[in-house]
Amino acid sequence: MRRRRVGVLISGRGSNMRALVEAARDPAYPAEIVHVVSNIADAPGLDYARSQGISTAVLSHNAHPTREAYDAALSAHLKAHDLDIICCAGFMRILTPILIRDWEGRILNIHPSLLPAYMGLHTHERALADGATEHGATVHLVTAELDGGPTVAQAKVPVLPDDTADSLAARVLAVEHPLYVRALALVASGQLSRAQEDRNGQ
Ligand code: GAR
Repeated sequence: MRRRRVGVLISGRGSNMRALVEAARDPAYPAEIVHVVSNIADAPGLDYARSQGISTAVLSHNAHPTREAYDAALSAHLKAHDLDIICCAGFMRILTPILIRDWEGRILNIHPSLLPAYMGLHTHERALADGATEHGATVHLVTAELDGGPTVAQAKVPVLPDDTADSLAARVLAVEHPLYVRALALVASGQLSRAQEDRNGQ
């Protein structure tokens, strides 16, 4: 089976993107990371992608008058790179239906909580404030509902009594990397849609 061509969207550090790039070094991995886009020009993750010989682009949201105009430009850019799957990895933008419609079923996001708990921002602070004993991360398909698309995979971590938002974020991040690698493999190899069809009795 042809390896799926993947584009990764980042806004910052890019450690999840790095985990995907490292996994895709294995020729048996069903996806290859061929392009990385950031909306932030000095996102540290861009340096890593460039160091790996991966093509990169900066598409600044400030260069577009509306969210829709930005998403239309971003979607056209992604299409021009002949991509099969898009992975949002710390891409801190709310996506509009203009982009989501173009990539429906082929765009993934990683979110630092056990969705549907703690959609949106500041997930670690909110989990601690609630006295949650369990927290984690979710990879889901992106739909028009923010952080609300179907779950592909989740990973759990315990919340410890002396946790701070930083210590909890670090524990979650450590499970995010293998989680995203596993989730992208499921989607890229077509196992996810087959599993859904099986559940639907098809
Ligand atoms: C990750 O923890 C990811 O789950 C989170 O941003 C971080 C990016 O880290 N994403 C969101 O909060 C999306 N709403 P990274 O740049 O090192 O991959």
